[in-house]
Amino acid sequence: MKRLEGKSALVTGAARGIGRTFAHAYINEGATVAIADIDLGRAQATAAELGASAYAVKMDVTEQASIDQAIEAVVARAGKLDILVNNAALFDLAPIVEITRQSYERLFCINVAGTLFTLQATARQMIRQGHGGKIINMASQAGRRGEALVAVYCATKAAVISLTQSAGLDLIKHRVNVNAIAPGVVEGEHWDGVDALFAHHENLPPGEKKRQVGAQVPYGRMGTAQDLVGMAIFLASAESEYVVAQTYNVDGGNWMS
Ligand SMILES: NC(=O)c1ccc[n+]([C@@H]2O[C@H](COP(=O)([O-])OP(=O)(O)OC[C@H]3O[C@@H](n4cnc5c(N)ncnc54)[C@H](O)[C@@H]3O)[C@@H](O)[C@H]2O)c1
Repeated sequence: MKRLEGKSALVTGAARGIGRTFAHAYINEGATVAIADIDLGRAQATAAELGASAYAVKMDVTEQASIDQAIEAVVARAGKLDILVNNAALFDLAPIVEITRQSYERLFCINVAGTLFTLQATARQMIRQGHGGKIINMASQAGRRGEALVAVYCATKAAVISLTQSAGLDLIKHRVNVNAIAPGVVEGEHWDGVDALFAHHENLPPGEKKRQVGAQVPYGRMGTAQDLVGMAIFLASAESEYVVAQTYNVDGGNWMS
């Protein structure tokens, strides 16, 4: 028996990376998945690769109208919305004395406001439907503690953990479960960009930061998006019905809390 048979899911930032891998996994478990991304061309290519149970939706999580239209598109296509993965996010890096207001506002707009207002619009839809739902926010180990050079991104992910707690407590009366995943360091295009930023700020050769962070993981290597899939399916499935307002570390042992 597939664990998400007949479910309708929306994954933001699913054109690539972790979101794409989650979408693939949900489809394998029987769900229909909206590949929602600001990059429509890449979302369409991803949806075509993932097959008939995937469809692309243009979505910018920083724009309320775009959030509302994306949810309308899901309901028009699948008739309902059962699962949201709030995955779209942006990273940046700078010493405290060099942080720009523009970078701060962009990161908070996508990572925090985007998460909150996508969650809100989804919760409204789920409450209207009247049979609960599952919301999974993507936090990070960066939200568990500050990191030199990563102040703003860390603060956005701490905010995601806090929003998960508050929304989880508020929405469980509607049988909407809100939980989060806090990955550690995950291989992919995202970390290629992070590595390049560290190379610039720490004067490292390309690839060296990735090598360092991978060697520091107790498990012995960087994570992959596939390493997160078990938790992503669990939190979207009926098996997590009594799990409320939690953030789970899936990071090879980097952090304990
Ligand atoms: N990769 C890691 O090491 C890591 C670690 C911890 C947490 N995370 C979190 O996991 C999630 C996914 O990470 P990833 O590595 O797959 O990232 P990624 O950068 O590879 O993918 C992010 C996707 O979001 C999309 N996006 C960007 N802005 C958007 C917007 N305004 N509206 C809609 N879509 C938008 C991008 O087009 C892209 O497809 C993020 O929340 C990230 O913070 C990643």
